[in-house]
Amino acid sequence: MQEILDAILSGNATSADYAGLALPESYRAVTLHKDEEQMFAGLASRDKDPRKSLHLDEVPLPELGPGEALVAVMASSVNYNTVWSSIFEPVSTFGFLERYGRLSPLTKRHDLPYHVLGSDLAGVVLRTGAGVNAWKPGDEVVAHCLSVELESPDGHNDTMMDPEQRIWGFETNFGGLAQIALVKTNQLLPKPKHLTWEEAASPGLVNSTAYRQLVSRNGAGMKQGDNVLIWGASGGLGSYATQYALAGGATPICVVSSPQKAEICRAMGAEAIIDRNAEGYRFWKDEHNQDPREWKRFGAKIREFTGGEDVDIVFEHPGRETFGASVYVTRKGGTIVTCASTSGYMHQYDNRYLWMSLKRIVGSHFANYREAFEANRLVAKGKIHPTLSKVYSLEETGQAALDVHQNRHQGKVGVLCLAPQEGLGVRDQELRAQHLTKINAFRDI
Ligand SMILES: NC(=O)c1ccc[n+]([C@@H]2O[C@H](COP(=O)([O-])OP(=O)(O)OC[C@H]3O[C@@H](n4cnc5c(N)ncnc54)[C@H](OP(=O)(O)O)[C@@H]3O)[C@@H](O)[C@H]2O)c1
Repeated sequence: MQEILDAILSGNATSADYAGLALPESYRAVTLHKDEEQMFAGLASRDKDPRKSLHLDEVPLPELGPGEALVAVMASSVNYNTVWSSIFEPVSTFGFLERYGRLSPLTKRHDLPYHVLGSDLAGVVLRTGAGVNAWKPGDEVVAHCLSVELESPDGHNDTMMDPEQRIWGFETNFGGLAQIALVKTNQLLPKPKHLTWEEAASPGLVNSTAYRQLVSRNGAGMKQGDNVLIWGASGGLGSYATQYALAGGATPICVVSSPQKAEICRAMGAEAIIDRNAEGYRFWKDEHNQDPREWKRFGAKIREFTGGEDVDIVFEHPGRETFGASVYVTRKGGTIVTCASTSGYMHQYDNRYLWMSLKRIVGSHFANYREAFEANRLVAKGKIHPTLSKVYSLEETGQAALDVHQNRHQGKVGVLCLAPQEGLGVRDQELRAQHLTKINAFRDI
């Protein structure tokens, strides 16, 4: 492993040098253990502690298959799916691995008594499998997390429609929170040259998701002048949605839960910011009934920022807690685009406001390769920036996941894998210098 790291740190090792390096038989990885699936049984979600379920283990290097690559991972990040996996909610991810394992002898590799998590990476290609021409050892890359088989016609207009679509490092094994990861090479993208390893690793999953959900025609298809209500605007997804709204000539109306988070939105350039805690919204009167007066109060607040206009798009992901309000405040003909249900997936809303006002609810999930490429391209051009706030070591991944679970983080939380320290991997200092303030906007807040 040290030889691999030395080659990467030298910054001048050739493809032949990398191809000549011996691969280790095992590597360190953040894992869940299948025999601990029930460890939190009976506990409330908030009491389930990722520090107890996430382990740092030495695991065997998986066999490399056709169309795949082994990547030396310099840095990764924590996504909310790491939290879901680590608390075994809403289901244990070992069920995903078992199902994937039944598909073919090659996918059987994923069905193991441990699950290496992680759906982001920045690193260097070590080996490519048969049939790979576009990538070679030594390429500095980031990876998006869409894993597809594409044997069915269904996925050939939009790869997200592949019946065998999975999220790498969540529904597959050998993820990015490790020293080495196994990916399909159609997950690879060039690493933005002006970013450090940990900065480059952090946008991947959430940036691609926000791009499809808000910008792509497969999502809300945002246009100039749209008013976009963004829940959790300083969080993982929201911090990219806010940037897309600003960069695309729309007006983000950012919802956050503290003055610090409001400050971050201001630093991104947003002006319309609602602190949901300070306003004290109670959309649910009790467990079964919502309070339409609170929807109205929220809608009136939005209109204060928009000169009386309602929102064209709601960027939804909190789910049950907010969905009724989201449907209500959307303008006639507008779109509620949802990719998650953090607070509960059994939503309730008043359908009269949907059909009578011809609104649309659009489901969105991750992104296809092209959308992930576009999202990464915007980062590489310095038009969209990483939102990294804090960086942990691989050993501290449990704590990193706990921070996200408890909503104590801002933007994205990074994890150093092989990288011995922060700040390495920048290949274009000039572009970096142009954007340094924006790149650091989420740091130390
Ligand atoms: N389908 C996909 O492809 C996809 C991709 C990425 C993420 N996701 C899902 O999307 C969700 C958010 O992910 P993320 O990475 O953005 O997480 P995150 O970094 O935790 O950000 C979510 C933000 O939502 C806000 N929020 C949380 N609970 C809320 C509630 N009850 N009411 C209103 N706002 C609430 C919080 O902001 P404030 O406290 O400041 O309001 C929080 O910071 C997760 O469930 C994740 O699994 C889905």
